[in-house]
Amino acid sequence: MDISQTDSQTDAQSEFLEKMRRQFDFGPYPRTPIEESPTDNSNELFIHNLLTPYYLHHHKFINTEGKVLLDAGCGTGYKALILATANPGARVVGIDISPKSIELAEQRLEYHGFKDKVEFHVLAIEEVAKLEMKFDYINCDEVLYFFDDIANGLAALKSVLKPQGIIRSNLHSLLQRQIFFRAQELFGLMGLMEEFSEEMAIPIVVETMKALGSWVDIKKYGWNPAYEVEEKNMEALLANHLLQGDKGYRVTELFEGLKRAGLEFVAMTNWRQWDVADLFNEPDNLPSYLAMGLADSSQETRLTLYELMNPVHRLLDFWCANSLDIPDYLPIPDWSLQDWQTSQVALHPQLKTDKFKQAAIEAINQNKPLMISEFLSLPALKPVTVDASVVNLLLKLWDAPQSFEALADLWQHTHPVNWVTLEPISRDEARQKVADALGKLEVFLYVLVERGH
Ligand SMILES: C[S@@+](CC[C@H](N)C(=O)[O-])C[C@H]1O[C@@H](n2cnc3c(N)ncnc32)[C@H](O)[C@@H]1O
Repeated sequence: MDISQTDSQTDAQSEFLEKMRRQFDFGPYPRTPIEESPTDNSNELFIHNLLTPYYLHHHKFINTEGKVLLDAGCGTGYKALILATANPGARVVGIDISPKSIELAEQRLEYHGFKDKVEFHVLAIEEVAKLEMKFDYINCDEVLYFFDDIANGLAALKSVLKPQGIIRSNLHSLLQRQIFFRAQELFGLMGLMEEFSEEMAIPIVVETMKALGSWVDIKKYGWNPAYEVEEKNMEALLANHLLQGDKGYRVTELFEGLKRAGLEFVAMTNWRQWDVADLFNEPDNLPSYLAMGLADSSQETRLTLYELMNPVHRLLDFWCANSLDIPDYLPIPDWSLQDWQTSQVALHPQLKTDKFKQAAIEAINQNKPLMISEFLSLPALKPVTVDASVVNLLLKLWDAPQSFEALADLWQHTHPVNWVTLEPISRDEARQKVADALGKLEVFLYVLVERGH
């Protein structure tokens, strides 16, 4: 694919970039207070932890020590801070075209003690190769939808991605966000998007929307009284009604853009919230015609069905990689006990908190179940609870990753007798119990399992 540009395109593009720079120098994003820490936000840390997509894609663990991460279009650096927090020992490089945003990002990371682990540059994504660096992970959050052609943005990121590396990016959903695209067109017609003059535009938007009747569609679905409060309206209006260069996409356009950039779709970052089966009253008993069709449909088709039936996600938020070719991959439900016996097991790092450990000890002492989804809710659709006997395994994993056999040992010690036959529990019975428990938790990535060879 040739994504090189003609001179006239380059001119148009630099004009557009200049508009972007002005937009975000005026309203740097996000406005999250500098002292706010993501330490307790397990869902954000989960998404930004390199281990999460690396394991989903390669089915292997990865140590974040020494890895190099890029936050492309980092804004005021809150996501760069999450990346630095979620990936101990990694180096984070942030780039953005807005000097004001970069200044704030530098201040933020310094405030949180990461000064020596990060670097920021005023640089366009289109020019990222100038860094002369290659990255293990690239985060490009809330930026790609500004590109005229998303394949150009993705190709620029791919050019600095290591062969095994992973990119996370997202696009605004055309179907979910229609109300704001209409608002942008409306305020464009009123001349409020022409010149860059938000100071003038914001009060006009507020005045117009306040004056509209409450039954009017654009007010009913595209307005919130909170936008009328002066200190609060700035970020919301600039990020929605007055966002310049914003565009909406369908799932098919995402897949087409990835293809043109030579990248492969790995998964949605909130993949558990994109399962068509979950939209039915009985997910395990789907109408037969649909069930047959779903059985051999592609990821793209399944996601498209979801977006047509239930376009509730603002973002098409995805991970992608250079290739989908994973040697020796065998899905866990197909593993034999021999496969399990070679495996290593780890607890997801975002469950390795003191709060989780205390709750696990309490569940074991009181022999009661633990609601694990309270500690990490994103990968679960409904509450997920774990029996005290399985919590015992998790507590062992809290200390360090274990071989599967060490967990089978632990099970045999804590459950020496089969309660039905009253015979001593056999080694294979213990293995089967542990494999079943881990298999159920691995679906949510609460535990990660790496098969040996
Ligand atoms: C909506 S903000 C998102 C900031 C941050 N990624 C986040 O999610 O918190 C978009 C950012 O992308 C930057 N940006 C837009 N186009 C860019 C480009 N082509 N190259 C680099 N930065 C860009 C803007 O300056 C702005 O700071």
